Amino acid sequence: MKDTYKRNINYLRISVTDFCNLRCKYCMPEAGVEKMKHCDVLSIEEIVKIAKESASLGIRKVRITGGEPLVRKGIIDLIKGISAIEGIEDIAMTTNGLLLKEYGKELKEAGLKRVNISIDSLDPHRYREITRGGEVEKVLEGIEEALTLGLDPIKLNTVIIGGENEEDIRKLMDLTKVYPIDVRFIELMPIGEASSWSKKHFISNEEIRKRVPELVPQLHETASPAQYYKLPSAKGRVGFIDPISSHFCSECNRLRVTFDGKLKPCLHSSQEIDLLPALREETGSLRELLAQAIASKPEKHFLDTVDYKAITRNMSQIGG
Ligand code: GTP
Ligand code: 5AD
Ligand code: SF4
Repeated sequence: MKDTYKRNINYLRISVTDFCNLRCKYCMPEAGVEKMKHCDVLSIEEIVKIAKESASLGIRKVRITGGEPLVRKGIIDLIKGISAIEGIEDIAMTTNGLLLKEYGKELKEAGLKRVNISIDSLDPHRYREITRGGEVEKVLEGIEEALTLGLDPIKLNTVIIGGENEEDIRKLMDLTKVYPIDVRFIELMPIGEASSWSKKHFISNEEIRKRVPELVPQLHETASPAQYYKLPSAKGRVGFIDPISSHFCSECNRLRVTFDGKLKPCLHSSQEIDLLPALREETGSLRELLAQAIASKPEKHFLDTVDYKAITRNMSQIGG
């Protein structure tokens, strides 16, 4: 379905939980998040229903996000349910990779096609600091498992925090020489936890590119948030996602659903449409709400303007 600005909305991102087995500094409060009441969270059946209705409106690609989707009970059944929907051509997941070794095979068999894995440092000490306790070894095992199973193309997501993991920039990029994977640098965004301190620790992707002059620009892919480059003789690419210094709103093809059943037409806007009444009380039609969200998708975000009000939900609640 096309929105008001003639963008074809064909990509649905579903956050299935705000829980995570890590608490990255820019994403989660140090104390973690409180457990929600069962009834306030979408059930697996409800998520499948939303995906089905969305497919009938033209959604072709679904990405499962979180929090950490692999800590959600019933995740394998969810993937099975979504892969059985007519019209869905691609099912992907964004994960921190810690549980991929354990669940990778089942996920693949259930129909998952590919994974994006978050990793902000290759140094065990720094990784533990940023994630507040994670073991980078487990993520590396998860990446190997995903490669073995063919959950590809694999993209790694990295957030550089000024003064914390700048030393990792080169090491993470060098992974593209060893593996046929894309390593993408996401600019730190002033969302939730990070909104009070992100400015002080912000390093633009432009600055990162300046530090690595041998990067060669690649052709831009439509509807991709990343601009790609390549290191000489590398197998994979280095990508840059610049939501702050430039945006891809004019090509945005996404709609988001949060774990608690709210539709978000734009990542950076506080507008949310509650799906629970339509799902549970049969008040209103799910299809109409989805169509309404597409129709009300804003032309662009205002992150880089003085009028921008930081959204208070953490990234773990929205799904990135
Ligand atoms: P594929 O292109 O399907 O591989 O996935 P993706 O890059 O959309 O997914 P991923 O979950 O790996 O997202 C990586 C990051 O891209 C997110 O954390 C956001 O920082 C950024 N991003 C994703 N969608 C949007 C969007 O709609 N707007 C903006 N500004 N940034 C986005
Ligand atoms: N700024 C930039 N990226 C963030 N992510 C989570 N919070 C932020 C933030 N404030 C990233 C995670 C993950 C992706 C889905 O979103 O590192 O890779
Ligand atoms: Fe968990 Fe990802 Fe948030 Fe880190 S960024 S706390 S891995 S949801």
